[in-house]
Amino acid sequence: MTTTIGFDVYGTLIDTAGVTEALRQFAGKRTVQFSNLWREKQLEYSFRRALMQNYVHFGFCTRFALDYTCTALGVDIPDQDKEELLAGYKVLPPFADAAESLPVLKDQGFRLFAFSNGKPEDVASLLEHSGISNYFEDVISTDEIKSFKPNPAVYAHFLRRTGATGREAWLISGNPFDVIGAVSAGMRAAWVKRSAEAIFDPWEIEPTITIGSLAELADGIRKN
Ligand code: LAC
Repeated sequence: MTTTIGFDVYGTLIDTAGVTEALRQFAGKRTVQFSNLWREKQLEYSFRRALMQNYVHFGFCTRFALDYTCTALGVDIPDQDKEELLAGYKVLPPFADAAESLPVLKDQGFRLFAFSNGKPEDVASLLEHSGISNYFEDVISTDEIKSFKPNPAVYAHFLRRTGATGREAWLISGNPFDVIGAVSAGMRAAWVKRSAEAIFDPWEIEPTITIGSLAELADGIRKN
């Protein structure tokens, strides 16, 4: 049985804190607060769009969340600079453990896919820019069915596109909501808990495995 792995992109392979430095000139001491609220709102907007069946692509969720965060925190960012921040979202850096572990996983015969809320072309260029695109068989985007994680339909779409069954397919994510969504939809899932402070949502669902870094993934999958 070949194991099929879908990697979440933003927050799992790619470090969204990469925009933090660019924010500092506008948000000053509140940069971390700004960055966190921006990310939370981006996800909230994607959840609401999926629930309302009122789809716009993920880039719009990011854009509207940026506008919200500026208003909420009273931070003024000129339009031109907002465009630059949003452009920065397309050239975020990979996590070091992603760059190190992907070639090893591929050599060991795992089928690797990027599986994201992001538009296919945005995800493809992001992976290209970060030098990790060659390890993936394909990019699978929730845009293909005009919805977002954690709609169960997007995990079913992943299985259809990869030709895998839930038993042989793993979702790997640093985002607890994504892990819960995948397990609830019949997949296995690894939660990448890179910091001691990260909290898994109290839920009746737990990750199949929890790993501190992607370097622990191959072993974790083999034992399960
Ligand atoms: C993604 C978001 C959820 O890449 O991080 O799908």
